[in-house]
Amino acid sequence: MAAAVVPAAGRGERLGPGAPKALRELGGAPLLVHAVRALARSRAVGLVVVAAPPQGVAEVLGLLDSHGLDGKDIRVVAGGATRQESVRLGLAAIPDATEIVLVHDAARPLVPVEVVDAVVAAVRAGAEAVVPAVPLADTVKRVRPVPAGEPEPVLDTPDRASLRAVQTPQGFRRQVLVEVHAKALAEEAEGGSPVVTDDAGLVEHYGGQVVVVPGHEEAFKVTRPLDLVLAEAVLARRRA
Ligand code: CTP
Ligand code: MG
Repeated sequence: MAAAVVPAAGRGERLGPGAPKALRELGGAPLLVHAVRALARSRAVGLVVVAAPPQGVAEVLGLLDSHGLDGKDIRVVAGGATRQESVRLGLAAIPDATEIVLVHDAARPLVPVEVVDAVVAAVRAGAEAVVPAVPLADTVKRVRPVPAGEPEPVLDTPDRASLRAVQTPQGFRRQVLVEVHAKALAEEAEGGSPVVTDDAGLVEHYGGQVVVVPGHEEAFKVTRPLDLVLAEAVLARRRA
């Protein structure tokens, strides 16, 4: 059985004023509830650990209860000041005997179960770290940083065909993920901090091999207000 960590402790600043993002509503239920349900739909997932906003552990427990997510083992721990810390705190609540761990953003409420299953299958098949990803629609340019308000000079244009936009759930051999998080914590304590925005990035940083499996357009992250409009539309289409 795989276990999943759901980092849900972010404030959702880019979404604008309101409740913490994971608790914002989509089709009558909080984003977090959708995300946990999406994981729980997979027969491969037996345990889900939610890293809640530190002040919101009791509230999140109540929400998960009232939305009828029983049947699976669902636990809630207090998250941290960064996504990385929230994942680390969630990981600490997963039993050592667990071989496969998924990390899934609460902010990706609509990930299809096929993506969850494909990630687990790739870890079972031998990969130490697996990310679902999709090709990019836009051309991407690297720019040189300049003071705000000035036009940014373009450095170059990476070949789009070799680029992927990465989603979650990302899947790992539990031991691998625990080790890279411990190393990152130690490096931070020494004053360094690797600039990584996802868990697979930590595996890469310490020399591990990450592989990509196909993601899904509906696994997009709710980041800005427009994403919430899109999520409502996708949900309405599913329910039609
Ligand atoms: N996250 C977390 N703990 C933090 C920060 C983020 O658990 N201290 C979680 C968020 O709740 C979210 C996921 O990490 O489910 C992805 O992060 P992001 O989309 O950046 O969410 P927020 O950090 O909440 O949003 P913003 O960056 O706009 O403030
Ligand atoms: Mg953030």
